Amino acid sequence: MSDRRQFITGAGLAAFSGLGAIGALYAAKRTWDPLPSVKEGGFTTLNMKDYKENVLAVESWRGKPIFVLKQSKEMLSTENKNMSEITGKTTEAMDKKRLIKVGDDYFLIAIALCTHLGCIPAYRPEKNNFLCACHGGVYDDTGMVTKSPPPRGLDVPPFKIMGDKVLLGEAGPEYKKMLADGTTLAV
Ligand code: FES
Repeated sequence: MSDRRQFITGAGLAAFSGLGAIGALYAAKRTWDPLPSVKEGGFTTLNMKDYKENVLAVESWRGKPIFVLKQSKEMLSTENKNMSEITGKTTEAMDKKRLIKVGDDYFLIAIALCTHLGCIPAYRPEKNNFLCACHGGVYDDTGMVTKSPPPRGLDVPPFKIMGDKVLLGEAGPEYKKMLADGTTLAV
């Protein structure tokens, strides 16, 4: 019995030190990599030049995961098609309604929690959409719902565009417009 306990304790320790080693490696990597975002006093600053087209990045703001997804030309043209199928409208403004324009680029920046019951949807780069595995909800790459049960698109956190950076936690004019036209709810 004591041998068995010793074995279990040994195995636990080995697993723990293995995790510790992974943690140390991860910490070391974080110090080598330039950080794409800076967090301070409830604000997160995103440097939009650090993101790559169709590669999902997950940042954090006030303890919440945040999706950042830079759109490619192909994605923007697919959105035109998706949006016009769903809304019957084809205007450029409607197509890019949920996206945030920084310089010449468009980004999805949204809270990474499903608006149904709060699971984290998974991005599928080959399909340019998010699948929420909990109940099968799907969002397009602008964060708009294309398959229920989510009741609305992914929520957009308060943001302010500052040159090629975006400050999360402060409501700039573009965010206030999204609130006013119902693109997102206040969070
Ligand atoms: S929590 Fe995402 S579909 Fe239910």
